[in-house]
Amino acid sequence: SLLLFVAVFIITADFIKNYRPANFPPGPWALPILGNIFTVNHKKAHENLMQLAAKYGDVYSLRMGQMWMVVLNRFEILREALVTQGDSIVDRPRLPLQEDIFHARNIIFNNGNHWKQQRRFALSTLRYFGIGKKSLEPVILDEFTHCAKVFSSYEGNPFNPHLIINNAISNIICSLVFGRRFEYDDKRLTRLMKMFDEVFEIQGSIWVKLYNSFPLLMRRLPGPHQTALHIWNEIRKFIEEEVKVHKLNWDPSNSRDYIDCFLNEIHMNKGRPDSTFDEETLSMCVLDLFVAGTETTSTTMRWAFLYMTKYPEIQEKVQAEIDRVIGQSRQPTMEDRANLPYTDAVIHEIQRMGNIVPLSLPHMTNKELQLGGYTVPKGVIIIPNLTSALFDTNEWEAPFTFNPGHFLNKDGQFVKPTAFIPFSAGKRVCLGENLAKMELFFFFTSFMQRFTFSMPAGVKPLMEYRLGATLAPRQYDICVTRR
Ligand code: HEM
Repeated sequence: SLLLFVAVFIITADFIKNYRPANFPPGPWALPILGNIFTVNHKKAHENLMQLAAKYGDVYSLRMGQMWMVVLNRFEILREALVTQGDSIVDRPRLPLQEDIFHARNIIFNNGNHWKQQRRFALSTLRYFGIGKKSLEPVILDEFTHCAKVFSSYEGNPFNPHLIINNAISNIICSLVFGRRFEYDDKRLTRLMKMFDEVFEIQGSIWVKLYNSFPLLMRRLPGPHQTALHIWNEIRKFIEEEVKVHKLNWDPSNSRDYIDCFLNEIHMNKGRPDSTFDEETLSMCVLDLFVAGTETTSTTMRWAFLYMTKYPEIQEKVQAEIDRVIGQSRQPTMEDRANLPYTDAVIHEIQRMGNIVPLSLPHMTNKELQLGGYTVPKGVIIIPNLTSALFDTNEWEAPFTFNPGHFLNKDGQFVKPTAFIPFSAGKRVCLGENLAKMELFFFFTSFMQRFTFSMPAGVKPLMEYRLGATLAPRQYDICVTRR
């Protein structure tokens, strides 16, 4: 009877604690203690969240363990929240797993002064080293040349492009942050690339949800979450070694990369109480840039190869435009973009359909706000469902069809509908947006200029995904023919 009493007490306490406040967004019934942790299948969370929107409306709620979440759907609601009322949801929730990994020292999961200083510093430093400028073009094009050599070596034989494209894209952020690139057979980097893949899969799993809901228990239990912690630690060690080498030959009058600039800041800000520049922050911010700067663009490129094999007539049209505007005797330049509207439209359509960060990253309210006619109190997690904007039936002519026409007007000129928000929007908008756009333009255009992509004989392109920290295609082999 004591057990029964305890059970009744816990359930009643849970019920009182989690009682929906007045005018709170509606949502499915939640289990005591666990909430809606099993309502959403983590392997297809973005699809489930779209189905729930059809049932409960564009603004609805879920409870993950003891945390309330509000899911926002469709472009108009997202714009209202992320941009118009952006200041009220600029924060991130403090979730146990990310706190255990990043110790509130990185950019992605930070708030307040720390986030502001480090975001501003990263943006201005990356701009200084060439993002959005002419000076980064040769770095990207040189990396493409390395990558193309490896692709050419497989001509006639099916191969998996995954690790090669990961290494190539990673080398761009490595050159900005570490001041160097890595050969594709570099054992340490190849090992790290495999780890990125593994940890991204685990980040989307139920284990991470359980860890964030019941940290005291999960910290002690074995499982994939422990593998994730181990991998993050390994990546961090790799970065710390790079920082050590930078410190040995640091010359404040000649900053070669992001790490050098950061070491300058540590030096100049010594003794300032509001400074957030210290060595742990350095490692954690590098970790952000290194991981976010590798997986995202390379995943988009892996979707690009698949879409081009699935729609060979679109691939041919892109190649014809490139041949006409650039030809075969030189590499593309940023100025070519304005003259390649069809190619540009195809890149955007790949990003829209690829939908690689389908639920953005979580935000949190820092004051009460009104959304879609409901009241959302302070301290509630906000999930911006980017999928619902990229496939919004109010915004796109045929959202579920791959159609570059979504980005072309009737005269064939490139136009970008406002609902195109794969990088999210507002104050937390992706910090690497401009870098990613440059990489995608140069890599995609160069690949189309040099190669034709197809599936191995008798194989159809598999458009199935794996949802982890990103929505990525499943592993596949591909064939290339030099043009
Ligand atoms: C944040 C998408 C490439 C660094 C984000 C967010 C999205 C996103 C949706 C969350 C925004 C929000 O919370 O509202 C993408 C896509 C990419 C890409 C689709 C490529 C196609 C990159 C690259 C970098 C990067 C290349 C490296 C510099 C970051 C960082 C944040 C972020 C540091 C956190 C920003 C903050 O919290 O203030 N990205 N990203 N991303 N991204 Fe990207």
